[in-house]
Amino acid sequence: MIRTKILGLGSYVPDRVVTNEELAYLDDQHVRQETLQTETSDEWIQKRTGIRERRYVPNDGTWSTSDLALHAAKRALTDANIDASEIDCIIFGTLSPDMHFPGTAVILQKKLGIDKTGCACFDIRQQCSSFVYALQMADAFVRTGMYKRILLIGAELHSHSLDYTTRGRDVMVLFGDGAGAMLLGPVESEDPRDGVMYTSAHADGSGAMDLYLGLFDIAHRPYLFIDPKDRETNRGMYPQMDGKRVFLNAVRAMVMSTQAALANTGMSWDDIQWFVPHQANLRINEKVVEVAKIPPEKVLNTIQFYGNTTAATVPLTIDHWRREGKVKKGDRILSSVFGSGFTWGAAIFTI
Ligand code: COA
Repeated sequence: MIRTKILGLGSYVPDRVVTNEELAYLDDQHVRQETLQTETSDEWIQKRTGIRERRYVPNDGTWSTSDLALHAAKRALTDANIDASEIDCIIFGTLSPDMHFPGTAVILQKKLGIDKTGCACFDIRQQCSSFVYALQMADAFVRTGMYKRILLIGAELHSHSLDYTTRGRDVMVLFGDGAGAMLLGPVESEDPRDGVMYTSAHADGSGAMDLYLGLFDIAHRPYLFIDPKDRETNRGMYPQMDGKRVFLNAVRAMVMSTQAALANTGMSWDDIQWFVPHQANLRINEKVVEVAKIPPEKVLNTIQFYGNTTAATVPLTIDHWRREGKVKKGDRILSSVFGSGFTWGAAIFTI
Protein backbone atom coordinates (compact mmCIF):
# COMPACT_ATOMS: atom_id res chain seq x y z
CA MET A 1 0.00 0.00 0.00
CA ILE A 2 1.28 3.49 -0.81
CA ARG A 3 1.57 5.76 2.21
CA THR A 4 2.83 9.35 2.47
CA LYS A 5 6.19 9.85 4.11
CA ILE A 6 7.77 13.10 5.27
CA LEU A 7 11.10 13.08 3.42
CA GLY A 8 12.53 16.35 4.69
CA LEU A 9 11.89 19.40 6.85
CA GLY A 10 13.27 22.94 6.93
CA SER A 11 12.48 26.39 8.26
CA TYR A 12 13.73 29.95 8.10
CA VAL A 13 13.32 33.12 10.17
CA PRO A 14 14.97 36.47 9.43
CA ASP A 15 17.87 37.65 11.61
CA ARG A 16 16.24 40.79 13.00
CA VAL A 17 14.87 40.12 16.49
CA VAL A 18 12.17 42.58 17.59
CA THR A 19 11.56 42.47 21.32
CA ASN A 20 8.28 43.56 22.90
CA GLU A 21 10.11 46.57 24.30
CA GLU A 22 11.37 47.66 20.84
CA LEU A 23 8.00 47.01 19.18
CA ALA A 24 6.41 49.92 21.04
CA TYR A 25 8.89 52.32 19.38
CA LEU A 26 8.49 51.18 15.75
CA ASP A 27 6.87 53.44 13.15
CA ASP A 28 4.76 52.27 10.20
CA GLN A 29 7.94 51.34 8.27
CA HIS A 30 9.05 49.38 11.37
CA VAL A 31 11.93 51.77 11.98
CA ARG A 32 12.75 52.47 15.63
CA GLN A 33 11.85 56.00 16.76
CA GLU A 34 12.90 57.98 19.83
CA THR A 35 9.33 58.39 21.06
CA LEU A 36 6.73 55.76 21.90
CA GLN A 37 4.57 54.93 18.81
CA THR A 38 2.22 52.33 20.34
CA GLU A 39 0.91 52.18 23.89
CA THR A 40 1.84 48.66 24.83
CA SER A 41 4.32 46.95 27.14
CA ASP A 42 6.44 43.85 27.46
CA GLU A 43 4.43 42.95 30.57
CA TRP A 44 1.04 43.15 28.79
CA ILE A 45 2.22 41.20 25.75
CA GLN A 46 3.88 38.43 27.75
CA LYS A 47 0.99 38.09 30.20
CA ARG A 48 -1.76 37.94 27.51
CA THR A 49 0.09 36.08 24.74
CA GLY A 50 3.36 34.55 26.02
CA ILE A 51 5.27 36.31 23.20
CA ARG A 52 8.70 37.73 24.12
CA GLU A 53 10.02 38.59 20.64
CA ARG A 54 9.44 37.99 16.94
CA ARG A 55 11.53 38.15 13.75
CA TYR A 56 11.20 40.78 11.00
CA VAL A 57 12.71 40.88 7.51
CA PRO A 58 15.09 43.78 6.79
CA ASN A 59 13.24 46.96 5.99
CA ASP A 60 14.97 47.53 2.63
CA GLY A 61 12.20 46.60 0.21
CA THR A 62 14.02 43.54 -1.12
CA TRP A 63 12.13 40.84 0.80
CA SER A 64 8.86 39.13 0.02
CA THR A 65 7.11 36.01 1.33
CA SER A 66 8.55 33.86 -1.47
CA ASP A 67 12.10 34.74 -0.30
CA LEU A 68 11.39 33.41 3.19
CA ALA A 69 9.84 30.33 1.56
CA LEU A 70 12.88 29.85 -0.69
CA HIS A 71 15.25 29.62 2.29
CA ALA A 72 13.00 27.12 4.10
CA ALA A 73 12.47 25.08 0.91
CA LYS A 74 16.21 24.82 0.25
CA ARG A 75 16.78 23.55 3.80
CA ALA A 76 14.02 20.95 3.41
CA LEU A 77 15.49 19.82 0.07
CA THR A 78 18.92 19.42 1.66
CA ASP A 79 17.37 17.53 4.58
CA ALA A 80 15.61 15.15 2.17
CA ASN A 81 18.65 14.91 -0.12
CA ILE A 82 16.39 15.73 -3.06
CA ASP A 83 17.15 18.02 -6.00
CA ALA A 84 14.62 20.79 -6.65
CA SER A 85 14.12 19.48 -10.19
CA GLU A 86 12.44 16.37 -8.72
CA ILE A 87 9.56 18.41 -7.23
CA ASP A 88 6.36 17.73 -9.18
CA CYS A 89 3.98 19.76 -7.01
CA ILE A 90 4.15 22.84 -4.74
CA ILE A 91 1.41 23.59 -2.21
CA PHE A 92 1.89 27.08 -0.78
CA GLY A 93 -0.06 28.33 2.25
CA THR A 94 0.08 32.06 3.02
CA LEU A 95 -2.14 35.00 3.92
CA SER A 96 0.62 37.45 2.97
CA PRO A 97 1.27 36.59 -0.69
CA ASP A 98 3.89 38.44 -2.74
CA MET A 99 1.06 40.06 -4.73
CA HIS A 100 -2.71 39.76 -5.23
CA PHE A 101 -2.17 37.42 -8.19
CA PRO A 102 -0.59 35.23 -9.43
CA GLY A 103 -0.17 33.01 -6.39
CA THR A 104 3.13 32.79 -4.57
CA ALA A 105 3.73 29.12 -5.46
CA VAL A 106 4.64 30.03 -9.06
CA ILE A 107 6.99 32.75 -7.83
CA LEU A 108 8.70 30.25 -5.55
CA GLN A 109 8.86 27.75 -8.43
CA LYS A 110 10.77 30.33 -10.48
CA LYS A 111 13.10 31.20 -7.57
CA LEU A 112 13.85 27.50 -7.10
CA GLY A 113 14.85 27.41 -10.77
CA ILE A 114 12.26 24.76 -11.65
CA ASP A 115 9.84 26.88 -13.68
CA LYS A 116 10.70 24.98 -16.85
CA THR A 117 9.75 21.63 -15.25
CA GLY A 118 6.10 22.71 -15.45
CA CYS A 119 5.34 21.25 -12.01
CA ALA A 120 1.89 21.87 -10.52
CA CYS A 121 1.60 24.93 -8.25
CA PHE A 122 -1.23 25.42 -5.75
CA ASP A 123 -1.85 28.36 -3.41
CA ILE A 124 -4.14 27.72 -0.49
CA ARG A 125 -5.86 30.32 1.70
CA GLN A 126 -6.56 28.69 5.03
CA GLN A 127 -4.41 31.10 7.06
CA CYS A 128 -3.27 29.59 10.38
CA SER A 129 -4.80 26.22 9.42
CA SER A 130 -2.90 25.99 6.13
CA PHE A 131 -0.44 23.36 7.33
CA VAL A 132 -3.09 20.73 8.11
CA TYR A 133 -5.09 21.55 4.96
CA ALA A 134 -1.93 21.30 2.82
CA LEU A 135 -0.90 18.06 4.50
CA GLN A 136 -4.31 16.57 3.76
CA MET A 137 -4.04 17.59 0.09
CA ALA A 138 -0.47 16.28 -0.19
CA ASP A 139 -1.41 12.99 1.45
CA ALA A 140 -4.31 12.46 -0.98
CA PHE A 141 -2.14 13.38 -3.99
CA VAL A 142 0.65 11.01 -2.95
CA ARG A 143 -1.60 8.06 -2.08
CA THR A 144 -3.47 8.29 -5.40
CA GLY A 145 -0.14 8.41 -7.26
CA MET A 146 -0.85 11.88 -8.65
CA TYR A 147 2.45 13.39 -7.45
CA LYS A 148 5.63 11.90 -6.01
CA ARG A 149 7.65 14.82 -4.65
CA ILE A 150 5.47 17.47 -3.04
CA LEU A 151 6.90 20.65 -1.53
CA LEU A 152 4.58 21.91 1.20
CA ILE A 153 5.30 25.49 2.23
CA GLY A 154 3.90 27.82 4.87
CA ALA A 155 5.42 31.30 4.76
CA GLU A 156 4.41 34.73 5.99
CA LEU A 157 5.76 38.25 5.79
CA HIS A 158 3.52 40.06 8.30
CA SER A 159 5.75 42.94 9.32
CA HIS A 160 4.83 45.06 6.27
CA SER A 161 1.08 44.99 6.84
CA LEU A 162 0.57 45.72 10.52
CA ASP A 163 -0.83 48.86 12.13
CA TYR A 164 2.06 50.21 14.28
CA THR A 165 -0.18 52.46 16.37
CA THR A 166 -2.26 52.01 19.51
CA ARG A 167 -5.32 51.43 17.32
CA GLY A 168 -3.78 48.26 15.86
CA ARG A 169 -1.92 46.98 18.93
CA ASP A 170 -4.19 43.99 19.62
CA VAL A 171 -3.20 42.42 16.28
CA MET A 172 0.21 44.00 15.68
CA VAL A 173 1.91 42.51 18.75
CA LEU A 174 0.95 38.94 17.76
CA PHE A 175 2.58 38.42 14.37
CA GLY A 176 6.08 37.71 13.06
CA ASP A 177 7.82 36.75 9.79
CA GLY A 178 8.97 33.19 9.03
CA ALA A 179 8.64 30.08 6.88
CA GLY A 180 8.45 26.31 7.24
CA ALA A 181 8.73 23.61 4.57
CA MET A 182 8.19 19.88 4.20
CA LEU A 183 8.89 17.46 1.37
CA LEU A 184 6.52 14.55 1.01
CA GLY A 185 6.61 11.43 -1.13
CA PRO A 186 5.37 7.84 -1.38
CA VAL A 187 6.58 4.81 0.56
CA GLU A 188 5.40 1.19 0.27
CA SER A 189 4.15 0.10 3.68
CA GLU A 190 1.47 -2.15 5.19
CA ASP A 191 1.71 -0.35 8.56
CA PRO A 192 -1.24 2.08 8.85
CA ARG A 193 0.74 4.07 11.44
CA ASP A 194 3.53 4.91 8.98
CA GLY A 195 4.06 8.44 7.68
CA VAL A 196 0.96 10.61 7.49
CA MET A 197 -1.54 8.62 9.52
CA TYR A 198 -4.49 10.96 9.91
CA THR A 199 -5.72 14.37 8.77
CA SER A 200 -8.97 16.25 9.36
CA ALA A 201 -9.86 19.69 8.02
CA HIS A 202 -12.91 21.81 8.88
CA ALA A 203 -14.36 25.30 8.43
CA ASP A 204 -17.18 27.53 9.66
CA GLY A 205 -17.64 30.59 7.44
CA SER A 206 -19.82 32.35 10.02
CA GLY A 207 -16.54 33.32 11.71
CA ALA A 208 -15.12 34.99 8.57
CA MET A 209 -15.52 38.55 9.86
CA ASP A 210 -13.98 37.79 13.26
CA LEU A 211 -10.49 37.89 11.75
CA TYR A 212 -10.04 39.38 8.30
CA LEU A 213 -8.17 41.82 6.10
CA GLY A 214 -10.60 43.74 3.88
CA LEU A 215 -8.09 45.31 1.50
CA PHE A 216 -9.89 43.97 -1.59
CA ASP A 217 -13.39 44.46 -0.17
CA ILE A 218 -14.97 44.91 -3.60
CA ALA A 219 -18.59 44.94 -2.37
CA HIS A 220 -18.00 47.96 -0.16
CA ARG A 221 -15.09 49.68 -1.96
CA PRO A 222 -15.43 48.78 -5.65
CA TYR A 223 -12.63 51.18 -6.57
CA LEU A 224 -9.66 50.63 -4.34
CA PHE A 225 -8.70 53.97 -2.87
CA ILE A 226 -6.88 54.14 0.41
CA ASP A 227 -4.69 57.02 1.48
CA PRO A 228 -2.14 55.30 3.72
CA LYS A 229 -1.65 58.51 5.73
CA ASP A 230 -5.37 59.09 6.29
CA ARG A 231 -6.35 57.62 9.67
CA GLU A 232 -10.02 57.64 8.67
CA THR A 233 -9.67 55.37 5.63
CA ASN A 234 -6.45 53.45 6.13
CA ARG A 235 -8.00 51.03 8.62
CA GLY A 236 -8.86 48.83 5.61
CA MET A 237 -5.17 48.19 5.04
CA TYR A 238 -4.82 46.26 8.27
CA PRO A 239 -6.16 42.98 9.70
CA GLN A 240 -9.20 43.34 11.97
CA MET A 241 -9.90 40.90 14.78
CA ASP A 242 -12.41 40.14 17.50
CA GLY A 243 -9.77 38.68 19.81
CA LYS A 244 -12.13 37.19 22.37
CA ARG A 245 -14.25 35.34 19.78
CA VAL A 246 -11.12 34.06 18.08
CA PHE A 247 -9.72 32.90 21.42
CA LEU A 248 -12.85 30.98 22.47
CA ASN A 249 -13.40 29.36 19.07
CA ALA A 250 -9.71 28.42 18.81
CA VAL A 251 -9.73 26.61 22.16
CA ARG A 252 -12.97 24.77 21.36
CA ALA A 253 -11.94 23.72 17.83
CA MET A 254 -8.41 22.66 18.80
CA VAL A 255 -9.66 20.60 21.75
CA MET A 256 -12.35 18.94 19.59
CA SER A 257 -10.02 18.17 16.69
CA THR A 258 -7.32 16.80 19.02
CA GLN A 259 -9.80 14.52 20.78
CA ALA A 260 -11.26 13.38 17.44
CA ALA A 261 -7.78 12.58 16.09
CA LEU A 262 -7.15 10.25 19.02
CA ALA A 263 -10.63 8.69 18.93
CA ASN A 264 -10.57 8.11 15.15
CA THR A 265 -7.14 6.45 15.17
CA GLY A 266 -7.52 4.57 18.48
CA MET A 267 -4.33 6.20 19.72
CA SER A 268 -3.44 7.51 23.14
CA TRP A 269 -0.72 9.91 24.31
CA ASP A 270 1.46 6.83 24.97
CA ASP A 271 1.67 6.40 21.16
CA ILE A 272 2.54 10.05 20.45
CA GLN A 273 5.78 11.84 21.30
CA TRP A 274 4.79 15.47 20.69
CA PHE A 275 1.77 17.77 20.54
CA VAL A 276 2.47 20.67 18.17
CA PRO A 277 -0.39 23.18 18.23
CA HIS A 278 -0.63 26.22 15.97
CA GLN A 279 1.20 29.12 17.63
CA ALA A 280 -1.36 31.93 17.97
CA ASN A 281 -1.20 32.61 21.70
CA LEU A 282 0.47 30.67 24.50
CA ARG A 283 -2.68 31.08 26.60
CA ILE A 284 -4.78 29.37 23.90
CA ASN A 285 -2.34 26.46 23.83
CA GLU A 286 -2.23 26.18 27.63
CA LYS A 287 -6.03 26.06 27.76
CA VAL A 288 -6.15 23.38 25.02
CA VAL A 289 -3.59 21.31 26.90
CA GLU A 290 -5.57 21.64 30.13
CA VAL A 291 -9.02 20.86 28.68
CA ALA A 292 -7.88 18.03 26.35
CA LYS A 293 -5.72 16.55 29.15
CA ILE A 294 -2.54 16.53 27.05
CA PRO A 295 0.66 15.61 28.96
CA PRO A 296 2.36 19.03 29.34
CA GLU A 297 5.85 17.55 28.79
CA LYS A 298 4.78 16.54 25.26
CA VAL A 299 3.84 20.06 24.17
CA LEU A 300 6.12 22.03 21.81
CA ASN A 301 5.72 25.82 21.52
CA THR A 302 7.81 28.50 19.82
CA ILE A 303 5.48 31.50 20.02
CA GLN A 304 7.76 32.99 22.70
CA PHE A 305 10.52 33.48 20.10
CA TYR A 306 8.69 33.90 16.78
CA GLY A 307 5.17 35.18 17.55
CA ASN A 308 2.41 33.94 15.26
CA THR A 309 3.85 33.10 11.83
CA THR A 310 0.43 31.84 10.64
CA ALA A 311 0.86 29.18 7.90
CA ALA A 312 4.46 28.55 8.98
CA THR A 313 3.99 27.80 12.68
CA VAL A 314 3.77 24.00 12.71
CA PRO A 315 6.75 23.06 10.46
CA LEU A 316 8.73 25.96 11.99
CA THR A 317 8.06 24.69 15.51
CA ILE A 318 8.92 21.07 14.68
CA ASP A 319 12.13 22.15 12.94
CA HIS A 320 13.08 24.49 15.80
CA TRP A 321 12.83 21.71 18.39
CA ARG A 322 14.51 19.22 16.07
CA ARG A 323 17.50 21.57 15.83
CA GLU A 324 17.43 21.87 19.64
CA GLY A 325 17.69 18.06 19.80
CA LYS A 326 14.23 17.36 21.25
CA VAL A 327 12.40 16.05 18.18
CA LYS A 328 13.99 12.99 16.61
CA LYS A 329 13.48 11.15 13.34
CA GLY A 330 10.68 8.59 13.79
CA ASP A 331 8.82 10.64 16.43
CA ARG A 332 5.05 10.71 16.06
CA ILE A 333 3.39 14.13 16.23
CA LEU A 334 -0.19 15.24 16.76
CA SER A 335 -0.76 18.72 15.43
CA SER A 336 -3.88 20.81 15.88
CA VAL A 337 -4.54 24.15 14.19
CA PHE A 338 -7.08 26.98 14.08
CA GLY A 339 -7.26 30.08 11.93
CA SER A 340 -9.19 32.80 10.19
CA GLY A 341 -12.22 31.57 8.30
CA PHE A 342 -12.83 30.01 10.80
CA THR A 343 -10.78 26.99 9.73
CA TRP A 344 -9.33 24.24 11.87
CA GLY A 345 -8.11 20.66 11.83
CA ALA A 346 -5.66 18.12 13.16
CA ALA A 347 -3.12 15.63 11.86
CA ILE A 348 -1.06 12.71 13.16
CA PHE A 349 2.18 11.94 11.34
CA THR A 350 5.67 10.55 11.82
CA ILE A 351 8.53 12.90 11.18
N1 COA B 1 -0.95 46.31 24.66
C1 COA B 1 -1.57 46.86 25.69
N2 COA B 1 -2.91 46.85 25.84
C2 COA B 1 -3.63 46.23 24.88
C3 COA B 1 -3.04 45.62 23.78
C4 COA B 1 -1.65 45.67 23.68
N3 COA B 1 -0.97 45.11 22.65
N4 COA B 1 -4.02 45.08 23.01
C5 COA B 1 -5.18 45.35 23.61
N5 COA B 1 -4.95 46.06 24.76
C6 COA B 1 -5.92 46.57 25.71
C7 COA B 1 -7.31 46.73 25.15
O1 COA B 1 -7.42 47.95 24.46
C8 COA B 1 -8.16 46.69 26.40
O2 COA B 1 -8.11 47.94 27.00
P1 COA B 1 -9.41 48.53 27.76
O3 COA B 1 -9.71 47.55 28.85
O4 COA B 1 -8.93 49.86 28.26
O5 COA B 1 -10.48 48.60 26.72
C9 COA B 1 -7.40 45.71 27.30
O6 COA B 1 -6.06 45.63 26.77
C10 COA B 1 -8.00 44.32 27.31
O7 COA B 1 -8.25 43.96 25.99
P2 COA B 1 -8.91 42.59 25.61
O8 COA B 1 -9.16 42.57 24.15
O9 COA B 1 -10.06 42.34 26.55
O10 COA B 1 -7.73 41.59 26.00
P3 COA B 1 -7.69 40.02 25.89
O11 COA B 1 -7.42 39.47 27.22
O12 COA B 1 -8.87 39.49 25.13
O13 COA B 1 -6.40 39.80 25.00
C11 COA B 1 -5.74 39.19 22.79
C12 COA B 1 -6.34 40.27 23.68
C13 COA B 1 -5.70 39.71 21.37
C14 COA B 1 -4.33 38.89 23.28
C15 COA B 1 -6.61 37.91 22.92
O14 COA B 1 -7.97 38.22 22.72
C16 COA B 1 -6.21 36.85 21.95
O15 COA B 1 -5.10 36.35 21.98
N6 COA B 1 -7.12 36.42 21.06
C17 COA B 1 -6.80 35.45 20.04
C18 COA B 1 -5.97 36.10 18.99
C19 COA B 1 -5.39 35.12 18.00
O16 COA B 1 -4.96 34.08 18.41
N7 COA B 1 -5.37 35.48 16.73
C20 COA B 1 -4.83 34.65 15.70
C21 COA B 1 -5.71 33.46 15.49
S1 COA B 1 -5.06 32.32 14.43
